[in-house]
Amino acid sequence: MPKIKAIKVWEFPIRVIHWTNFVSVVGLSVTGAYIHFPFLSTANNPDAFVMGYARAIHLSLGWLLMLGVIGRVIWGLMGNRFARLRNFLPFTYPEGRENLVDVIKYYTFASPRPSGTLGHNALASMAYLSIGLIMIFQVVSGFALYSQADTGGTAYALFGWVFEFMNNGYLRMAHYFSMFIFASFFITHIYAMWMSDVAERNGSGGSMFNGYKYGDPDSKI
Ligand code: HEM
Repeated sequence: MPKIKAIKVWEFPIRVIHWTNFVSVVGLSVTGAYIHFPFLSTANNPDAFVMGYARAIHLSLGWLLMLGVIGRVIWGLMGNRFARLRNFLPFTYPEGRENLVDVIKYYTFASPRPSGTLGHNALASMAYLSIGLIMIFQVVSGFALYSQADTGGTAYALFGWVFEFMNNGYLRMAHYFSMFIFASFFITHIYAMWMSDVAERNGSGGSMFNGYKYGDPDSKI
């Protein structure tokens, strides 16, 4: 029987970044959906300035998401072993590969036992890597779309290169469709967190608030 202890897994910066990312992705999705489909027609009342506010909030949250992504990369270099960037590539080290096999067996009902990791399991880490890459895509494409307002400005100098690969129409479409990936991630993320909390009794549900999970302190992952 492994010894079970309460262990500080998620440090304060990780939790702050997690929740600011949550706020920005939800806010960006709501305002982005409105920018795409402005259902509150204000043609008869332009002073309401609804689209103006939606775009201003979208852009401000865009900055917040960008800071969240940069902060997470920095903390991945400085943080504890559960925060390390290496965890996002579990197939590059032996314990990660072993855990990947365990998780796949558990999810395909080939094994009755959950993998019992302290940090993210190997499959979850890869899902977070994918969502992180999509966040980076949204930041780059979002600032590129924004930069078109002034092709002589700083934003265009930094992000205008994107239009070498994609024209405005395709970029807007990719930026728009990525929103649905966040929506589906959200559903599976809540499901997996809850399932892990119930099946492993590891406290994952509360861990992004208080930082603690319950498990074997000798666990490598
Ligand atoms: C979770 C991340 C994000 C989601 C889900 C999202 C969603 C959306 C959606 C659905 C649209 C409307 C697309 C269209 O119909 O043409 C949009 C437009 C836009 N987004 Fe985002 N976005 C995100 C991140 C960002 C970021 C980080 C920025 C950076 C500033 C940004 C800047 C913009 C700009 C400038 C537009 C065009 C606004 C306009 O044409 O008036 N977005 N976004």
